[in-house]
Amino acid sequence: MTETAMTKQAGIPTQPGPREAEVTEAVIAGAGPTLRPGERPTLRLRDAGTGSDEPPRYAPEWLELREGADAAARAHDLLDPLRIRLANLPGKAGLVIHDLGCGTGSMGRWLAPRLDGSQHWILHDRDPYLLHFAAVASPRSAADGSRVTVETRRGDVGRLTRDVLAGASLVTASALLDVLTREEIDTFADACTGAGCPALLTLSVAGRVDLTPSDPMDAEIAEAFNAHQRRDGLLGPDAITAACEAFSDRGATVRLHPSPWRLGPAESALTAQWLRGWVGAAVEERPDLAPRAERYLRERLEACAAGELRVVVHHSDLLALSRPTGGA
Ligand SMILES: C[S@@+](CC[C@H](N)C(=O)[O-])C[C@H]1O[C@@H](n2cnc3c(N)ncnc32)[C@H](O)[C@@H]1O
Repeated sequence: MTETAMTKQAGIPTQPGPREAEVTEAVIAGAGPTLRPGERPTLRLRDAGTGSDEPPRYAPEWLELREGADAAARAHDLLDPLRIRLANLPGKAGLVIHDLGCGTGSMGRWLAPRLDGSQHWILHDRDPYLLHFAAVASPRSAADGSRVTVETRRGDVGRLTRDVLAGASLVTASALLDVLTREEIDTFADACTGAGCPALLTLSVAGRVDLTPSDPMDAEIAEAFNAHQRRDGLLGPDAITAACEAFSDRGATVRLHPSPWRLGPAESALTAQWLRGWVGAAVEERPDLAPRAERYLRERLEACAAGELRVVVHHSDLLALSRPTGGA
């Protein structure tokens, strides 16, 4: 694994003193990797071969850190309508589930034991290193004890087609939509609805954060972070609305449910890393914030370490029930 964006993703671009250097080194972005200036994460694979640049990569340590909070946040209310759809699929063969942008496979570890019947998960990511982790720690059994099998596929979800999803029972993705462009979300919705396949798309950032106690800088940092998320045509906090529209326009029934992280003293390690990435990205977007942001981050980290900070990071989960085509 190269270092690249995995361990050092966004810095506070001031002339660092010793303390600032410490903060800068530790940055991990809160809702996806913070890109180096000019980078965009979804274009690079299409440009593969034209240079030595790689797309930004996600640290498995970061994905592991967030897995518990993700599991606690996911919208259980969307599971029953999904189970009903899956139970009504024609034929008695097991489920085939594609998890797009699977990372280390946390979605499968959460969902497979909540669905009945044998399942074959096809885990897609562009990062082979993460796919390796996903294969090793894959779920083994369904809610009713049926067998769960897994295969991995390396590729770009921006190139998804209905043919890739032929025979699929379900498509899932978690913490993925906000790093896609509108065109990629349209491609995604085309593929799912074209294949008549339901999609459970969880934990898309909503662009809202509540910190308690509050600080006058909270809103300014949040706004700059959201602007950073929207760089280079990526949708960031607009992704969830774009996905709802894309699926609805293609005839799917769409249900949305909030899925916020609720971070208190028990989640201080995650909160601290999230804070570093959140503030780091905001300052990368607005370097003029750096001097005040340095103070802000230091005080927030101190409050976090003392168990005096609570953070709600708002996300949304989406279930899109496409019209069945009869093929799945
Ligand atoms: C924030 S991580 C989420 C990982 C995992 N779904 C989870 O919830 O832990 C986003 C994942 O999407 C992958 N990814 C981002 N853009 C992609 C693309 N265009 N094609 C394939 N994978 C992509 C990244 O490599 C990363 O593993």
